[in-house]
Amino acid sequence: MTTATKESILIGVVTVSDRARRGVYEDRSGPAIQAVFDEIMRSPWRAEYRLIEDEQPFIESTLKELADQVRCPLIVTTGGTGPAVRDVTPEATVSVCEKLLPGFGEQMRAVSLQAVPTAILSRQTAGIRGQSLIINLPGKPQAIRECLDAILPAVPYCIDLLGGPRIEFDPDKVQAFRPRGA
Ligand code: MTE
Repeated sequence: MTTATKESILIGVVTVSDRARRGVYEDRSGPAIQAVFDEIMRSPWRAEYRLIEDEQPFIESTLKELADQVRCPLIVTTGGTGPAVRDVTPEATVSVCEKLLPGFGEQMRAVSLQAVPTAILSRQTAGIRGQSLIINLPGKPQAIRECLDAILPAVPYCIDLLGGPRIEFDPDKVQAFRPRGA
């Protein structure tokens, strides 16, 4: 793990789950996201972790806080992407973002479908609010690694294009792709 400093890159980790929030079970997905970044980040970084219920106004205000006040260049959510009545994370994401990046969701579903047919049930998406890239992941802990592996190579260049900090991954873990000269 890199040592967090004042200049650490802040990564928002937002678990959206009624049951984890009420303590019915422990959140394993938020920590799984943090474990992936612990493993791959070369740049100093720190998680800004939030555990909230499946309520669209809470999700929206959390995403706004992490983007506008905390100024996380990257915010990763987990949970609430499915078809159930209380699954509203994609709606909250779309509502706070100025631009959508549907390719992230498409790629994560394509990769996940090779592992599990119900990956088609996830409406996960991604988008930009200000200088923050917001990415939805499904709530299942085992989905975290699969989904992140599918899209991480494109994340540093996206943050570059938003004018954010230069993110360096351990190249033995994730080969970040930056076009020649970037
Ligand atoms: N993607 C991966 N990689 N692995 C999974 O186990 N579960 C699916 C899908 N995507 C899954 C996955 C299931 S069963 C559901 S219902 C949807 O994600 C939505 O999950 P969520 O509502 O917890 O976000």
